Amino acid sequence: MKKGFVFDLDGVITDTAKFHYIAWKDLAKNLGITIDEAFNETLKGISRMDSLDKILTYGNRENDFTLAEKEALAQTKNDEYVKLLADLSAEDLLPGVHDFLVQAKENNIPCAIASASKNAPMILEKLGVLDFFGHIVDPETLKKGKPDPEIFVKAAESINVEPKDAIGFEDAQAGIEGIKAAGMYAVGISETETLSGADLQVASMTELSVEQFMHI
Ligand code: G6P
Ligand code: MG
Repeated sequence: MKKGFVFDLDGVITDTAKFHYIAWKDLAKNLGITIDEAFNETLKGISRMDSLDKILTYGNRENDFTLAEKEALAQTKNDEYVKLLADLSAEDLLPGVHDFLVQAKENNIPCAIASASKNAPMILEKLGVLDFFGHIVDPETLKKGKPDPEIFVKAAESINVEPKDAIGFEDAQAGIEGIKAAGMYAVGISETETLSGADLQVASMTELSVEQFMHI
């Protein structure tokens, strides 16, 4: 019955979607492809290479690049993205996150990160919250990305919590689907999107307290 919390990173702990968007938009523009914010929504929770593939397909350029060229394009995007994160600090934590993590610690509830981002450890360090997490799933170890439940099952296992006793926090539809497929309780966090299948949806973590999850 030991509870555990599993968090997505981008859009739950901090809002990096805007930086991903700038970097993808610039890269796409150089390839003659125009993406907008609605298209960017479809990239949330999707790995770097899968995001690139989606952009190339969207621009009808999916057959124009070798794997090595695509890896170089993904690297170029990541270099710009990392530069955009240079000034990231504790001030960039989304509202309510720090308070919730402190409450989890006080109640001895372990926390893990289930993010497709290879930049997660660096981002958590810059935000000053790395020490709150018992484990960060390494996306390199995954066979499938979200909405597959693999990342969430691994995250729960890493903190020795059974999926049925774990609560997952996500801002993307693919993530909610992965959490539910893992057999976990799903909390959707979004002001703008309706996350279908979530057991509970809030606009912000400020609406949540650790206490409310102790007996679900
Ligand atoms: C998260 C974001 C995606 C991003 C992915 C990979 O899931 O929501 O937009 O593409 O991580 O991030 P990375 O930092 O490894 O490029
Ligand atoms: Mg997210």
